[in-house]
Amino acid sequence: MNTFHRPPPRAALVCPVRGCLEPLTWGDSQVFCTKGHQFDRAKSGYCNLLQVQERKSNRPGDSKVAVQARRRSLGRGLGEDLRDALGARVALGGLPPQSLVLDAGCGEGYYLAALCQRFGFEGWGVDISTPAIEAAARAFPIARWVVANADRPMPFADGCFDVITSITARKNPPEFGRLLATGGQLLVVVAHEDDQKELRGALFGELPESDRAGDTKAAFASLFALEDEAVVSTRVLLDPLGLRDLLMGSYRGERFSAQEGLAGLEPLAVTLSYRLLSFRRR
Ligand SMILES: C[S@@+](CC[C@H](N)C(=O)[O-])C[C@H]1O[C@@H](n2cnc3c(N)ncnc32)[C@H](O)[C@@H]1O
Repeated sequence: MNTFHRPPPRAALVCPVRGCLEPLTWGDSQVFCTKGHQFDRAKSGYCNLLQVQERKSNRPGDSKVAVQARRRSLGRGLGEDLRDALGARVALGGLPPQSLVLDAGCGEGYYLAALCQRFGFEGWGVDISTPAIEAAARAFPIARWVVANADRPMPFADGCFDVITSITARKNPPEFGRLLATGGQLLVVVAHEDDQKELRGALFGELPESDRAGDTKAAFASLFALEDEAVVSTRVLLDPLGLRDLLMGSYRGERFSAQEGLAGLEPLAVTLSYRLLSFRRR
């Protein structure tokens, strides 16, 4: 069990067993509710609260290979600009330390851990991938990590979060609306049109990109007011290993079988480009 010392959690976890919804206590080795439902915490500290009926497959979410590739990319510094842009946006809210933040589809935890380190927030990361949550819990004991399905009701009480982030990950407007306090901040990051354009060009020829930001704004409009929209872009020179990790760890990694194309690639300067949408809960 991870021995990092934090105050007891304030987030109102609720029991995920169908029809229960009793408060859950985050114990040292188990998470349990007043009706006797219990969930073991893994050695690394995370808790798997995914119910059988919420699984999408036997191995839902990102694979270990994808998680490890993304971690290596982040280790090369590829997430720093986006991390700083998220931090700058959150800083504008002037929230006190111990405010509660949820990262839906948190992956291996880099962005949530950075927010907790910078602001002293109580952080909760949710991902459906056990390898992702395992990696997050091992590397970042500063936050709490839960395996759950962000497309379904998540195991938290209404209005308990001050900030929710969704970073090239799940978008669940009704559920984010339920979980976010009135006036709370929602940060949604989507890939910008020119993200990885050089890599996509080299491997697949030009591919049309859908308007992710437009779709996202429309999906959130009824519950959230859009406060700000920014493009976060950078250009990095990557060797073939770096290119491979970027592809395998990105949102396109699973979609394309690009292994053969990657084999012949020379070092390449690649644009990384995101749109950061900042909303307030109405
Ligand atoms: C492109 S990755 C982004 C990870 C992280 N937000 C980051 O930017 O480094 C998308 C993540 O969403 C997770 N995911 C996919 N479906 C999910 C679901 N239904 N509920 C929760 N997480 C999910 C994947 O396992 C993966 O970790």
